[in-house]
Amino acid sequence: MQYQITTNQRRFDIAMIHDFLRSTYWAKGIPRSVVTRSIRNSLCFGAFQGSAQVGFARVITDRATTAYLADVFVLPEHRGRGVAKLLVAKILAHRELQGLWRFILATEDAHGLYAQFGFKPLPQPDHFMTIAFPNVYEKKSAPPLSR
Ligand SMILES: CC(C)(COP(=O)(O)OP(=O)(O)OC[C@H]1O[C@@H](n2cnc3c(N)ncnc32)[C@H](O)[C@@H]1OP(=O)(O)O)[C@@H](O)C(=O)NCCC(=O)NCCS
Repeated sequence: MQYQITTNQRRFDIAMIHDFLRSTYWAKGIPRSVVTRSIRNSLCFGAFQGSAQVGFARVITDRATTAYLADVFVLPEHRGRGVAKLLVAKILAHRELQGLWRFILATEDAHGLYAQFGFKPLPQPDHFMTIAFPNVYEKKSAPPLSR
């Protein structure tokens, strides 16, 4: 059966998305409430086979100048069939993501996927800065205040 891409969040399988994301290297342990809020506040794309969601991608964007592609995944049994390429193609063609100044993403090992669509390593990575909280979802409670 063919795969379809939709941005209609009412169709999304939030339980499946949360279940997948909480086991990833980039969002390990993420609470469901955070996943729900992140989806609500982003432009998201779901890949479907019939009524079953098999893939997901989230674009954090002002829909005018800048976009950040995150949380891209395809369920294991549907990999190797072009679903991720279909997702990325639909994202880059979306009418609200045209004329951007910059589209950014971070990946540990899927560079070859995104390179097919024109993504390149940062030309000047030293121009970028970050504040990272790598274990933020794994903390059960805030650390005690130091006195
Ligand atoms: C990465 C992932 C989304 C690819 O999904 P997919 O539907 O199997 O990918 P496609 O079938 O559309 O093809 C992917 C293409 O990118 C290439 N590629 C490059 N790096 C890859 C990687 N790390 N994993 C999978 N494909 C990769 C493949 O070789 C393929 O190219 P080809 O068509 O020229 O052979 C999927 O393997 C996945 O969900 N992985 C776990 C989550 C993850 O790592 N997400 C990426 C975070 S940036």
